[in-house]
Amino acid sequence: MKIIAVANQKGGVGKTTTTLSLSAALAEKGVRVLLVDVDPQGNASSALGASGEKGSLYHALIGEKPAAEMVYSTRIENLWTIPATLDLAGAEVEVARMEGHLTQLRRVLSPLKDLGLYDYLFLDCPPSLGILMSNALSAADEILVPIQCEYYALEGLGLLMQVTEQIRASGANPDLSLCGLLMTMYDGRTNLNPAVVKEVRNHFQEVVFDTLIPRTVRFAEAPSHGRTIIEHDPAGQGAEAYRALAGEFLERQKKGVAFVSGATAHHS
Ligand SMILES: Nc1ncnc2c1ncn2[C@@H]1O[C@H](COP(=O)(O)OP(=O)(O)OP(=O)(O)O)[C@@H](O)[C@H]1O
Ligand SMILES: [Mg+2]
Repeated sequence: MKIIAVANQKGGVGKTTTTLSLSAALAEKGVRVLLVDVDPQGNASSALGASGEKGSLYHALIGEKPAAEMVYSTRIENLWTIPATLDLAGAEVEVARMEGHLTQLRRVLSPLKDLGLYDYLFLDCPPSLGILMSNALSAADEILVPIQCEYYALEGLGLLMQVTEQIRASGANPDLSLCGLLMTMYDGRTNLNPAVVKEVRNHFQEVVFDTLIPRTVRFAEAPSHGRTIIEHDPAGQGAEAYRALAGEFLERQKKGVAFVSGATAHHS
C-alpha cells in the first residue's frame, strides 16, 4: 500500500476534487483505494456519504480507536474512506502536545499497510501548513500537487517545496518524494491558461502530468449531488480527464517515476 498526499496549502485549487475523482477513477479500474480525509471541512467525506457515526479520523489520530475500525465502505466498489468531521480541527492542538507529533498520523495509519486490503491510500489535505498537513506529508510516500491554471499558479509552490524539504531533512520522512504536479481547471478558450501551463511545464518539465483537468461546471454540481464526477457525469470530459490521469498515474507508478522536490531527479 502506497500513501499519496494530495496537497497544496493554497485553497480551492482542486485538491478534494482530485482526491475524489482520481480515487474513483482508480477504483473503476479495479485498484483498491482508501481515501483518508485530513481536512476538518470534511468535503470528501460528505461526497462519499460518510458521516462518521462510528467515529472518524479524529478518533484514530488521538489514539482513541484503531484506524482500521474507522474505515467505511462507500457506494463505489473498491473505494473505502476514513472520514473527517469538524472535531478534527481540535486534533491540531491535541496532536501538537504529543511526543513525535509530526509522525502521529504515520504511526496511526501504518497498521493498515499490513492488512493488505488497499493498493493506495490517498490523503486529502486541508488548505494550510498546519499540524494536519505536516502529519500528512510525514505519513506519505509521495505528494501530488494540484495547481490551478491561473496567473499566480506558482505562488506558494516554493513554500510547499520548502516544507517538503524540511519534513525530509527533519528525519520525519526522509524518502518523501513528489509524484507530480497536476494542472487543474484548465480553460483553453482564454489565452492565459495555455500560457500558464507552458510556464509551469518549462519550469518543472516532466514533473507535470501530461493530463490537463478541464474546467467544467459539472465538477461544481457533483458534490451537491453527493457524488463524484465519475458517477455524476460518467461520459463527460471531466470524468474522462480523471480516467486519463488514473492511467498516467499508474504508468508512473509502474515505472517508479517520482521526483525530489521540483527538481527532475528520478528514482525507483
Ligand atoms: N476542473 C474543475 N472545473 C470546475 N470547477 C472545479 C474543478 N475542480 C474543482 N472545481 C470546483 O472548485 C472548487 C474548489 O475545488 P476543491 O474543493 O476540489 O478544491 P480544494 O483545493 O480541495 O479546496 P480547499 O482548499 O478548500 O480544500 C469546488 O467548488 C469545485 O467543485
Ligand atoms: Mg479540499
